[in-house]
Amino acid sequence: MTKLTKEEMSPLHSLEDWDEDVLKRYPEAGKPAKEKDAFRNYDSPEIDGVREFYRLNHKYQTYDNVLAKKANFLKFDKKEMPWWTAMEYLNTLIDDSDPDLQLDQLQHLLQTAEAIRADGHPDWFVLTGFIHDLGKVLCLFGEPQWNVVGDSYPVGCKFSDKIVYPEFFADNPDKYDERYNSQYGVYSHHCGLDNIHMSWGHDEYLYHLTKNYLPEPALYMIRYHSFYSQHREHAYDHLLNAHDHEMFKWVDKFNPYDLYSKSPVTPVVSELKPYYEDLIAKYLPATVKL
Ligand SMILES: [Fe+2]
Ligand SMILES: [Fe+2]
Repeated sequence: MTKLTKEEMSPLHSLEDWDEDVLKRYPEAGKPAKEKDAFRNYDSPEIDGVREFYRLNHKYQTYDNVLAKKANFLKFDKKEMPWWTAMEYLNTLIDDSDPDLQLDQLQHLLQTAEAIRADGHPDWFVLTGFIHDLGKVLCLFGEPQWNVVGDSYPVGCKFSDKIVYPEFFADNPDKYDERYNSQYGVYSHHCGLDNIHMSWGHDEYLYHLTKNYLPEPALYMIRYHSFYSQHREHAYDHLLNAHDHEMFKWVDKFNPYDLYSKSPVTPVVSELKPYYEDLIAKYLPATVKL
C-alpha cells in the first residue's frame, strides 16, 4: 500500500467518535439499526469524520489486508509487559479530542467491567469487560484507525448490505474478485466462524492474545464484540454453525455493557487496581507479548 497521509491514518477526530456513532445507530439493546436518516440528517465534523473513516475502512479491508496483518501482528514480537502495564500503555493513546468531554480508554474499560461486576456476573466476565479494548494498542504500533476500530465483518465473501455504509464497499477490490464476491466466497454453508477471516482490528487481535487463557464465552465476546452486522442484524446466519449461535448469546449479553455503561462518574483507578490485578493474576500469565 502506498504511504498514507495523516488524514488517511486518522480520519476520526477521536477513536471514541466511532463508539458514539455505534451508540446512535443502536440506541436500544438488542434491536437492529435505526434508519440511517433518523440519526445522520445533520452536518457535524464528527459525522464527516466517521463517514470518511468508513470510506477508508471499507476500501482497504480486503482479504489480503487481513492475511498481511495477521502475518505481522500474530508474531507478537513488538513488546512484552505485565498486563496492567499494557492497560496503562493503551491509555497513552491520546488524540485530538477534548479531554474534558471524553473518557480515556481505561475509564471506559473500568466502567464496562464495573457494570458487569455490579450485575453479579462471573469474574472472568468482569475481566473480559476490563480488557476487551486492549487490542486498540494497535494504534500505538502505527496502524491507521480503520485497521483498529470500526464494525468488523467477514472478508473473503460478499459484503452484507447490513454493514454500516455498505455503499463504500464499491471501492474495495474484493467486491470485483470472483473468489471473494459470492454469498459464500471462500467459505461454505454453516462452516463456522472459526473458519472465517474477519476484517482486521482490535477484536481479532485481542482474541489471539487471550485465546489460551479465558473461557470460550469470553473469547466470543472479545472476538465478535464489533460484529454488529451479525449480533444485531443476523446478516451472516448462513456462515455461523450451531455452536456459534449458542456462543453469540454471550456476545449479546456483553454488548449492552460495552455500549451503554458510559457514565460521567469516573472510576477511581487506584481504588480498583488491586481487584483487577488479582483478576489478571487468576486468569492471565504474568506478561503479555504484543
Ligand atoms: Fe471494542
Ligand atoms: Fe469498548
